[in-house]
Amino acid sequence: MNDRQYWADRPEVASSPGTVPLLLPDVDLVLATDRGVFSADRLDRGTRYLLVDGPPPPDGAVDLLDLGCGYGAIACTLAARNPSARVWAVDVNERARDLCRTNATAAGLDNVEVVAPDGVPDSVRLDGLWSNPPIRIGKAALHDLLAGWLDRLRPGASAHLVVQRHLGADSLARWLDERGWATTRRGSRKGFRLLDVAARPGDPS
Ligand SMILES: C[S@@+](CC[C@H](N)C(=O)[O-])C[C@H]1O[C@@H](n2cnc3c(N)ncnc32)[C@H](O)[C@@H]1O
Repeated sequence: MNDRQYWADRPEVASSPGTVPLLLPDVDLVLATDRGVFSADRLDRGTRYLLVDGPPPPDGAVDLLDLGCGYGAIACTLAARNPSARVWAVDVNERARDLCRTNATAAGLDNVEVVAPDGVPDSVRLDGLWSNPPIRIGKAALHDLLAGWLDRLRPGASAHLVVQRHLGADSLARWLDERGWATTRRGSRKGFRLLDVAARPGDPS
């Protein structure tokens, strides 16, 4: 896949539908994919790491966010793990959103809300955020993106990010920490870092 395509609002590459298995200890789905979305040929290794070694979602009727949902591996997993949660699946890429919607519906997950980034109502506060974030949009854009969503975490809530070490995971962790989002490394494996990022004290509830 052309790496420059996957975060376009409307990918220019022609559609070429496919599927990838999402096989985790507790989740077994076949997800629809397509050209022009991130990791269309197989579940990304970083995403798998986040889903296997990251924390489970909080219980109850919580609002969770999959930031940059792609075809929905993270959103569908969170929704399956907590059927009472409302999972906001957000992506700029329209093709990715369509796939995510298709995948949630096919899996019978009626608690996934797939929307463009401005589609999450301002009143929604997040009880958790999971992301394999779009590092390739560039450092400044990534910082702005994360800052905007992290400020919507409820006090005491956390974000869970997977980032490749060679794409700047450690400097991103430092940047987050310096700006008041206490960031700890949950794990490190095969070039990926799993980061836990705590809501900033004083952020809106
Ligand atoms: C590394 S991919 C992860 C996709 C998916 N979560 C997965 O694990 O397979 C990052 C995603 O972020 C999306 N993205 C880029 N800029 C974004 C933005 N400003 N807001 C929301 N999503 C964005 C991209 O389109 C892409 O689907």
